Amino acid sequence: MCNVEEKSDHRVIDLQGTLLGPLRLSVITPEIVRVQVGPTLSQHSYAVDGECSQDVDVDIEHDEALTSITTSALRIEVDSDGFIDMYKRDGTPVLCDYRGERSPLPRMTSAEQLALMEAEGHQAQKDTATSTREVVKQLHSDEHFYGLGDKTGFLDKRGYAYDNWNTDEGNQLESTTKLYKSIPFIIGLRSNVVYGIFFDNTYASHFDLGKESSEYFYYSAKCGPIDYYLIGGETMADVVRNYTFLTGRTPLPQKWTLGYQQSRWGYINESEVMTVAKTLRKFGIPCDAIHLDIDYMKGYRVFTTDPRRFPDLKKMANELKKRGIKVVVIIDPGVKMDPDYPVFTEGEKNHFFAMSPEGKTYINRVWPGESAFPDFGRAEVRDWWAHKQKFLTDNGVSGVWNDMNEPASFDGPLPADTVFYDEDRPSTIEQMHNVYGHNMARATYEGQKEQTGKRPFVISRAAYAGTQKYSTVWTGDNRSSWEHLRMSIPQLCNLGLSGFSFVGADIGGFLDDTTGELLSRWIEAAVFSPLFRNHSCVGTRLQEPWRFGEPTLSIYRKYVRLRYSFIDYLYDLFAKEEKTGLPVMRPLVMHYEKDEEVKNLNDEFLVGENLLVAPVLTPGTDHRLVYLPADNWFDFWTGERFEGGQYVVVKAGIDSLPLFVREGTILPLRVVTDSVDVSSENKITFKVWGDSATYLHYQDDGESFAYREGAFNTYQVKMRGRHAEVSLVHRGYAPLYERVDIEAGETTVSLTFDQQVQKYVRCPQ
Ligand code: NOJ
Repeated sequence: MCNVEEKSDHRVIDLQGTLLGPLRLSVITPEIVRVQVGPTLSQHSYAVDGECSQDVDVDIEHDEALTSITTSALRIEVDSDGFIDMYKRDGTPVLCDYRGERSPLPRMTSAEQLALMEAEGHQAQKDTATSTREVVKQLHSDEHFYGLGDKTGFLDKRGYAYDNWNTDEGNQLESTTKLYKSIPFIIGLRSNVVYGIFFDNTYASHFDLGKESSEYFYYSAKCGPIDYYLIGGETMADVVRNYTFLTGRTPLPQKWTLGYQQSRWGYINESEVMTVAKTLRKFGIPCDAIHLDIDYMKGYRVFTTDPRRFPDLKKMANELKKRGIKVVVIIDPGVKMDPDYPVFTEGEKNHFFAMSPEGKTYINRVWPGESAFPDFGRAEVRDWWAHKQKFLTDNGVSGVWNDMNEPASFDGPLPADTVFYDEDRPSTIEQMHNVYGHNMARATYEGQKEQTGKRPFVISRAAYAGTQKYSTVWTGDNRSSWEHLRMSIPQLCNLGLSGFSFVGADIGGFLDDTTGELLSRWIEAAVFSPLFRNHSCVGTRLQEPWRFGEPTLSIYRKYVRLRYSFIDYLYDLFAKEEKTGLPVMRPLVMHYEKDEEVKNLNDEFLVGENLLVAPVLTPGTDHRLVYLPADNWFDFWTGERFEGGQYVVVKAGIDSLPLFVREGTILPLRVVTDSVDVSSENKITFKVWGDSATYLHYQDDGESFAYREGAFNTYQVKMRGRHAEVSLVHRGYAPLYERVDIEAGETTVSLTFDQQVQKYVRCPQ
């Protein structure tokens, strides 16, 4: 029998004497309930910042057999053994504890057989879940799973098992269980319910989502607390909204960061970079950023430049800025062990690096050779690192790309007892490994913000739940293969469902040689991915679009230009995302969750709610089958109208991207320019699809935080039949569009702003 303890806060319920020991339930919002198990109830979270709960009405009933907690949306029941069940308020079961014993998969392999297999170079399959910290929940035959960041495999994670231990993995296979990020959040979907469950524990953890059994799924962690959030909602979008309410949302980015970005490991010197910039312009390929990989540094020492290859980074950055191109540089965590290198000596003097248990700076090898690892779990180390960003911003750098921050290490993994701090408490790498990249990204974000006052642009490879508040992410070292092109779609969609809206995969593939055909299909498939970067590895075939001749160059140009016409649509989605947490790139299941056809649809996605993208992902293909869900859809290119709820065969030669617009949509389309230049925005076109539609368009200075004080405009565009109306529903940013074109079918009307009525009206003929 368990007892309920009275608490002063009516949203917190403590139960003593359950089989699991003490149990605390905290009602965060009507749709979010936190569960903490075990004696160490209090811990600090890297994912959930501060106090994010709301004042909620909670009904608590308790008798010998059951404690039940009811909010306006959910009922949570805890039985006398401590089993926890979640119901909708109307009594529909959502997520219930499994009462039986787990039965690990039989493998029947002897140690001798295993040794032989490993001698041939194969990795033995192991059940990695070794823990007493286990949460086992009932599984239903119609259950599907999503989330977990960018884990490999298909969109629906049912039947897979994954590990959370940030890993530098150069070989992303369907069977790969761990990658660079750990986002211990899943969404479960059944025919009548949807829910989320977020396990806030940074130690190594494991999810088995119906691989071991068709009766249960489970989560286990090597150490740390059992601390999880049950997340409800009427729709999958509600669950994502709730999860990002907890862990934070991607802040509105600077507008130029939505432009095209050209990268390669490694542009070796200034002249090579300038040639790339000039060639992009020569071929009419818009571009907003060039990335400098590790070669710009002096002997790979972070916060330095190589005086021979990049003698004046600031001058180069200014030259590029004149051409509308910004410089983004890579920064790794590893600080070269070098007594003549101030970043090392400063860090060493102040004990800012991770230490061995004996108190010596811990050293492992990365690009610069033997290196030390800043202990980003400590506020003073993050401040130090944040301040270091000044070197970059003083040199005209506009964005920072954080790599190798799992952290990767060449001389084997960091020993388990390496001392890393959890804020001001000494801890170990075991606890702090999965948040290492998170804390590095946070320091980078704070530093950039402090130095520039602008919205920071950070890209990170490693992440934990909540990193989306500080950084964009990319999927790391993919390959130039059709398989990886295909996989990028479920990876980016699941990142979106896991709170990460600003995401991308290296266009063209990072490792191996790409081909003109693959690159063409990749730029088509990636044209709406928020982080829009072509990046490739040293030693592979050069991957800028002009290296492939025609038709690749023209196809590439066509799609980069298409991207630029959609920059305002993407920016509008980010403005909404900051308020709702709903990602830019979405799997169809997010909006059509009752539709069986889309539950594991891997080769189509939505951009916002209204644009459906169905790229070609196989070689030698000139048509494909496209599933159009309920609602009617228009072919973006031809205007042909299709009824939803059916498969259609569409022609898709090498230069075609099947693209559909939902009926009742207005798309903001801008004039294509060489780069995103907010100061030249004086005209916009709203293109209408269908007879009746409404759209809210957002506009601000594209870079500062002034929008948070109201310095933005919101335009409302309404189309009813042949009548269009554009009004300003919020005016806080001085420049307004001089002209607004409304394009519907064959007709275009131009409107100008009338000060008297504060509306856009027809231009005098
Ligand atoms: C690994 C990163 O994933 C890759 O993008 C980068 O080019 C190399 N490190 C070199 O910095």
